[in-house]
Amino acid sequence: MIKLIGVSKKFKMGENEVIVLDKMDIHIKQNEFAAIVGPSGSGKSTLMNIIGCLDTPDEGDYFFQGKNISKASDNHLADIRNNKIGFIFQNFNLLPKLNALENVEVPLQYRGLKEQECRKKAINYLAKVGLTGREDHKPNQLSGGQQQRVAIARALVGEPELLLADEPTGALDSITGQEIMELLKGLHSQGHSVLLITHDQKVAEQAERVLQIQDGRICHRNETLSVGV
Ligand SMILES: Nc1ncnc2c1ncn2[C@@H]1O[C@H](COP(=O)(O)OP(=O)(O)OP(=O)(O)O)[C@@H](O)[C@H]1O
Ligand SMILES: [Mg+2]
Repeated sequence: MIKLIGVSKKFKMGENEVIVLDKMDIHIKQNEFAAIVGPSGSGKSTLMNIIGCLDTPDEGDYFFQGKNISKASDNHLADIRNNKIGFIFQNFNLLPKLNALENVEVPLQYRGLKEQECRKKAINYLAKVGLTGREDHKPNQLSGGQQQRVAIARALVGEPELLLADEPTGALDSITGQEIMELLKGLHSQGHSVLLITHDQKVAEQAERVLQIQDGRICHRNETLSVGV
């Protein structure tokens, strides 16, 4: 599904150059539920931006469904982002003036689907995340957990190949956060590919596979555990 080979990203800070991603290799398979875990400043968002086609690597190759997109044009990247990736963010990022149903319809409207088709799909996806009956609620009339469910329905409605979740439980209390994790696990068991990014080891461990970012590289959890044994 996605493969990064030798991906590097550096930032210039005045005279200094900071290497955030250092020849990173990652392979995420179709239908996998993987988590990338690492402390603050370890490069998680930098990596997520590359995987999510919001940024490109300085070096190395990024294959999305077998195609090398490390040097793809902005238009090509936008096309992948809009059609193949569903994003879930820490702060939900819902449009405050739109109700739950309208928020879920947005990605379909961008694609030019007919109004009735948008409505039908949005209702269906809100039901999948357990929000039937809340279609008319604006974000400020929903709890944090419910807002994140709307955001998940919005991410799913376009039937993306990959769900990319950056700290999806970060703004929620632990019980609500766990409910969102159960929802993501359910989506995985229905065949969705999920990539979760978090600083929270307990959250990460609920994925099928945990990749740890350390010193700009990926270190698989089992390898981490074997260090020092
Ligand atoms: N545009 C930029 N210019 C300069 N340095 C940057 C830029 N973006 C990120 N960095 C640096 O790259 C490093 C990694 O940042 P990144 O945001 O990827 O970390 P993170 O793992 O997502 O952290 P957090 O858990 O706090 O969100 C940091 O040292 C940061 O200062
Ligand atoms: Mg970050």
